Amino acid sequence: MNQIFIANPKGGCGKTTISTQIAGYYANLGYRVLLVDHDAQKSSSDWLASRPARCSSIQLRATTVETPVSDGEAEVVVHDMPAAWSLDHVADIIHAGDKVLVPVLSSPTDIKACLRFLMELYRSGIFEAGIRMGMVANRSREHTRYYKILIEFLERLESPLVANLRDTQNYVRAMDRGLTIFDLPESRVAADLAQWQPIFDWLDVAPPANPVHTAEALAV
Ligand SMILES: Nc1ncnc2c1ncn2[C@@H]1O[C@H](COP(=O)(O)OP(=O)(O)OP(=O)(O)O)[C@@H](O)[C@H]1O
Ligand SMILES: [Mg+2]
Repeated sequence: MNQIFIANPKGGCGKTTISTQIAGYYANLGYRVLLVDHDAQKSSSDWLASRPARCSSIQLRATTVETPVSDGEAEVVVHDMPAAWSLDHVADIIHAGDKVLVPVLSSPTDIKACLRFLMELYRSGIFEAGIRMGMVANRSREHTRYYKILIEFLERLESPLVANLRDTQNYVRAMDRGLTIFDLPESRVAADLAQWQPIFDWLDVAPPANPVHTAEALAV
């Protein structure tokens, strides 16, 4: 079982967007996917409730961080973590081999909040326990000053800068309909698909044992 945590206590940095994209990507490839919505706002749950029946299926567990997740038969478990993250609470559900992706926006407050979060994680010793962490620059607008500051900040960290996702309405429009960019015709989202490839390379999930479903791009 592959457990992937999308975490950053800073609100609005893209946790739900990235969690749902990852869940949709692996579901389209035929993995049994469980999306765990830890957030009281239930944005991932709302997204899944609006997912068209003809799309690849994703199981949902809506929970609080205090409740350990029983994974059932899931091959990929994606955790959409809440802004109110507490290491004490995740200690029971995070294990060696699990991966944490941290989305960060390019603003001074987001960078400062991220640094505080990372210091808490480094001090906790979870990396000595075999948990890997990667950073994702999200909503990137490459020609802005704070984008450059963010990239300089991320490149100095011990954890790799795994991907750089541009600011695009493709995510907003897809999410509004219970979709991901991986459900859309390739020609419309080619630039975004290319930006995601390093994330899937880094996650390095083994092929599904018995693929359950292969979705075709929706004609939209
Ligand atoms: N790469 C992107 N391009 C454009 N819009 C984006 C991108 N990533 C996220 N968004 C938008 O930014 C907003 C916040 O994203 P999201 O809800 O994923 O963040 P979050 O970290 O889950 O927030 P919260 O802390 O409230 O749970 C949403 O409206 C989402 O559609
Ligand atoms: Mg969210």
